[in-house]
Amino acid sequence: MKPLGTLPFAALLFASPAWAGGVEAGGTWTAYDKGQAELPPMGWNSWNAFYHDVDEEKVLASAQIIVDNGLAAKGYRYINIDDGWWLRRSQPDGRMVIRTATFPSAVAESGRTSFRPLTDRLHAMGLKAGIYSDIGRNSCGQTFGHGAANNPAGTREEREVGLFGHIDEDIALYFEDWGFDYIKVDGCGIRGMGVDNPNVAAGTYREFEPLIDFDSIARTKVSEVRALYQKVAEALERSNPDGDFIFSICLWGAADVRSWAHEVGNISRTSEDIGPQWGRMLHNLDSAARRALYAQPGSWNDPDMLFVGTGDFDRDHLVEARSHFSLWAMLNAPLIIGYDLRKATPELMAILGNERVIGLNQDPAGNQAVLAFDTDDLQIYVKTLADGSKAVALFNRTAAPLDATLTAAHLKFAEDASVRMVDLWSGASSSFTREHALVLGPRETRLFRTSGTRQLADGLYLSEMPGSVNVAEDGIVHLEADPSIHRAEIAWQGTRGGGEPPRYAGWGGARADRAPYGQHLRIAGQPFASGIGILANSRLEVRNTGFGRFASEVGVDDSATDASQRVRFELYGDGKLVAQSDWLAFGRQAQPLHAELRGQTILELVVRTAGPSERPVPVVWGNAALLR
Ligand code: GLA
Repeated sequence: MKPLGTLPFAALLFASPAWAGGVEAGGTWTAYDKGQAELPPMGWNSWNAFYHDVDEEKVLASAQIIVDNGLAAKGYRYINIDDGWWLRRSQPDGRMVIRTATFPSAVAESGRTSFRPLTDRLHAMGLKAGIYSDIGRNSCGQTFGHGAANNPAGTREEREVGLFGHIDEDIALYFEDWGFDYIKVDGCGIRGMGVDNPNVAAGTYREFEPLIDFDSIARTKVSEVRALYQKVAEALERSNPDGDFIFSICLWGAADVRSWAHEVGNISRTSEDIGPQWGRMLHNLDSAARRALYAQPGSWNDPDMLFVGTGDFDRDHLVEARSHFSLWAMLNAPLIIGYDLRKATPELMAILGNERVIGLNQDPAGNQAVLAFDTDDLQIYVKTLADGSKAVALFNRTAAPLDATLTAAHLKFAEDASVRMVDLWSGASSSFTREHALVLGPRETRLFRTSGTRQLADGLYLSEMPGSVNVAEDGIVHLEADPSIHRAEIAWQGTRGGGEPPRYAGWGGARADRAPYGQHLRIAGQPFASGIGILANSRLEVRNTGFGRFASEVGVDDSATDASQRVRFELYGDGKLVAQSDWLAFGRQAQPLHAELRGQTILELVVRTAGPSERPVPVVWGNAALLR
């Protein structure tokens, strides 16, 4: 190791304690921009419809219905095969073998199997094709013992069908030879193949010392997990020089994936599997709902695939089905149908095919909805659209009717001017001034597209444009589970065991219009309805598409519990410091911070503490906005 004296200045900075590291301005946009995820992916996946019982006929039937019913023309393009397709990894060449009993077109003359005939057919239908793998040696079915009939067969080595040790060959096979366009990479093989797995103990599968402990971030090897997924991204980029791929990271919110997936892949699961139960839908919704700043074109939050059509969202529960679909659209979640479309009624098809709702999800600005009102019972989500209008969802989470009042302020519209609304489910138009009362039926979501007079006439608050903000460093040092997520019974466990603990490290992440721990934004008693709440020792990247000025009022948030820390706010344009605040202490009034922008395209908002802090320091970029 070099003696400290010979290290360059930058290295010294990097070697200093965590409170100073990671917040140096780089002048670039670091979120993932490879692949084909400029908009949230749309399509169909076999899992929620068929679980392991997937076959070629089912896949093609669904694809045909998607084309014939006009869903393909509305954007549903990816037809994805999930767990259950593999037979074995042949030895000694290591080439993957397809289960031809269920995918007969995969029988190739060479004696080897190939998905090329199937992907050719899908491509000829104008669709794209997706495949599934695991980052470990074994699959989820093998790890958790489900899907026995379609789990891989053969010797122990032949049954090692996951990517571990085979990333480059498998990705080349799936994308170059077999012609896939999308891959979902699960993580069961690095989570559940420890010595305590009975099948490992019995010698059926090789032990893999877990890199992920779903219930303990301290026992999870975050950087090793990230490095494996990073290798997949690199292999995908090599195998797809035209960039025609989607990389779906499936780590169920574990391994602090929130903090890194946006640099590694196109979509990333934020929670455990969704189920066709209302409570599980709420759970998955909540896992993404407060993370608007962690999604942007190229890398989206994935609260899991749709369950429209099944269980609590079936043909007899169209209110619930519409709520589920409305909310996924508002969150910019991938719209991946998980239903046997051969059984779909016209009413269910009309939900999946509602172009007004799809249009929210596919809006080019890429802004995930932000919570304008948030309680356990009722929520109001607002999404700023590319044309400046706002979509709003008023969501009744409960099984009883609720009164709701939508205000112009929720929409950041002027209170004295008319707000026009179109109901995206009924098509009805209406308008109101100041506020509008409505009654939400049990589990109902009312969804509107609205236009009005903007409070901020000459620009956009950063909290209105989360799709142009990348949380490069959110300042979280102590990883804590998120306590704000609805904990519902998991169907396959029922009430056995002790119930659901808080999960998903990342509590205290950056928030639009809220403080990191959910309080309203406030500096020395002064409330801010608009702004970014974030912990100190953080760095945000903001894309500037032609604005001339940045303005904000900054300070320590009143929710800080360590009042001794001083913080400094710094604004960089294309890597150069353009403005900075004084060193500000808790209780000091908000200080204006603004700068003229001279064509800079990447702004960086850095906050640092003067020294190491025992507790995280929540700070406010109050009214932070880009102005013309
Ligand atoms: C995991 C994933 C699911 C599905 C199954 C397949 O549970 O989270 O989405 O892919 O594996 O076994």
